[in-house]
Formats: sequence, structure tokens, C-alpha cells
Amino acid sequence: MTIAKTALAAALTLAPPAALADGDVDRGAYLVNTVMACGNCHTPMGPDGIVAEQNLAGRLVEQTEHFTAIAPNITPAGRVADWTDAELGRAIREGIRPDGSLVGPPMPYKAYRAISDDDLAAIVAHLRTVPAVENDPGTSDYRIPLPPAYGPPLETVSAPAPGVTVDYGAYLTALAHCMECHSPMTPQGPDWDEGYARGGFAFHGPWGTVVSPNLTDHPDGLAGYSDAEVERMIVDGVHPDGSPMLPPMPYAFLAGMKAEDLDAIVLYLRSIPGAPDP
Ligand code: HEC
Ligand code: HEC
Repeated sequence: MTIAKTALAAALTLAPPAALADGDVDRGAYLVNTVMACGNCHTPMGPDGIVAEQNLAGRLVEQTEHFTAIAPNITPAGRVADWTDAELGRAIREGIRPDGSLVGPPMPYKAYRAISDDDLAAIVAHLRTVPAVENDPGTSDYRIPLPPAYGPPLETVSAPAPGVTVDYGAYLTALAHCMECHSPMTPQGPDWDEGYARGGFAFHGPWGTVVSPNLTDHPDGLAGYSDAEVERMIVDGVHPDGSPMLPPMPYAFLAGMKAEDLDAIVLYLRSIPGAPDP
């Protein structure tokens, strides 16, 4: 009787959440370090950019009139270590922590709701393997009300089959949260109803002010560039005239993108109907 009870308790604690079992660690590393550029917000920045030894240990990301946003330490030395895989996955994809509180902006929750179950499991599996880095970056302060949730609860999400297709390019564009930056920003998040991909989000930093450009198939956007020029801007951070592009676009992360993934993203960008700058 006692033995049976103990065995049952052990089974309950040890059983992995079905939806997140067997995450592909290599795929997770590729997504976190390249396509999704989590470290562009979660890794401390020094004068020379990302501090590699403090990978994902958290930093102050953005201070606006509406909030002070601090991306937490998401290495195994952070509080995420105490969360189950399913809880960590939910925080990433739906922006809800185990205590029910909402993860605030600019964590790209609007885009991340598209993450497939398999890719979410891969991301979580990889995060469990990164070196633990002791660092307490502090806590965010939101002076705007956050919504009760970013959408209805997600049960299961699937991705289009990988390939150089518009659909898979759209999926990667969501994971790379391109349109969180390349759309006008409002206190409620990016304006995707009127402004999707039309640019107009101003970023202020040590580099000055830079406004995200229009990525639609319009003369204000990418219509005048060849595919090769667009690809070079995305992964090398270099304009066609050879001048370097400014932060905070995560060129250094995107540089490691597989050629076919980059092709898929550009194919998708070409499919976005042209619209002028907002
Ligand atoms: C554009 C910036 C940005 C990017 C990119 C980003 N995050 Fe975040 N993330 C944040 C901010 C800011 C917070 C904290 C918001 C708050 O305090 O409510 C956060 C919170 C989190 C949390 C909650 C942790 C906790 O202790 O509460 C997790 C988990 C997380 N991010 C994981 C990720 C992963 C994994 C990626 C990449 C797939 C990622 N983030 C990409 C900005 C970002
Ligand atoms: C964190 C914000 C951010 C993210 C994420 C981001 N971008 Fe950008 N992007 C910018 C900013 C700001 C510029 C302007 C840089 C400059 O002109 O110096 C830019 C420039 C560009 C340009 C050059 C366009 C032109 O007309 O000059 C292209 C193309 C582009 N981004 C595509 C993408 C794609 C595709 C993704 C996703 C894979 C992406 N960006 C993700 C902020 C971002």
C-alpha cells in the first residue's frame, strides 16, 4: 500500500508533460541563437555588443514613458529553473507565468503565439542546457495596464512543412518577430491591423534614433531592391550602398540563418501587398 502510493507519487512528479516531451535540442539552439535572437533582449550588452559569457542572463531592454522593461535571467540560474517544461513553454508562447501573471512587452508575445508545439519543445529543451549564469537584472515596471491574456489558451499549434515556400517563410518571419519591429508600435503592442510590415517604429539608443523601414512590396518598401540585396541587409546588416545598418535589428544572430530559411523569408516578404509608409 505504502509502496504503491510512493510509486504513484513518483510517477506523478516525474511524468513529462506530454505536449513538450522530446524537444530537439539542436533545433532549439538554432532557433534561440539564430532565427529568434532571444539574446538580443535577454543577454547583457557591453560597449562591444552582446556579452557572450553572460548568454541569456537578463538585462534592461527598454525604458519608455509607459514602462521599464527588464528581460529576466532565463538561464538555469533564473527562476525559470523552478518551472516545469510546460510552464516555461506557456510563458514563452502565451506570455503567462506559472503564478498567472502576464509577461509584458517588448517580449514579442504577438508573434510567439505562432510557435509550433515541436519548436516550443525544442526551445525549452535547449534553454535547459545553456550554462547557468548568476545575474539578477531586476524587475520590470509597467505603468500601463496589461491585458488579462494575449489571446485564448493555446492547446496545440502546428507549423507548415519546412521549405522555400511563402507559408514557411511567414512562419519563420513570426518566429523572428520581424513585424514586431517593422510595424508601428502602440502601448497595446504592434499595430498589425493597419500597419503590418509598413515600418514606422522609432528606436532610441546610444546610436541615436532609427526608424524601422517598410518591408512591403511597395516603392516605400522593398520593391526597389533585388532579393540578394534584401538578404544581405537581413543577415549582414549592410545597405546596398555598403553603409552599415544600425541596431537594434539582430543582424549578428540572423547571420547564422540557413540559406533556405532566408530564401523562404524573402519569398514571404515579396508576397506582402505593397502599402506606403504609415
Ligand atoms: C524584444 C525583446 C525580447 C525578445 C526577442 C525575447 N524576450 Fe523574453 N522577455 C522580454 C522581456 C522584456 C521580458 C520580461 C517582461 C516582464 O517583466 O513582464 C521577457 C520575459 C521572458 C520570460 C519570462 C521569464 C520570467 O522569469 O518571468 C521568458 C521565459 C522569456 N522571456 C523567454 C524568451 C525566449 C525563449 C525568447 C526567444 C525565443 C525570448 N524570450 C525573446 C523580452 C524579450
Ligand atoms: C528589434 C527590431 C528589429 C527586428 C526584430 C527586425 N528588424 Fe529589420 N530593421 C530594424 C531597423 C531599426 C532597421 C533600420 C536599420 C537602419 O536603417 O540602419 C531595419 C532594417 C531592415 C531592412 C532594410 C530595409 C531598408 O529599406 O533599408 C530589412 C530588409 C529588414 N530590416 C528586414 C527584417 C527581417 C526580415 C526581420 C526578421 C527576420 C527583421 N528585419 C527583424 C529593426 C528590426
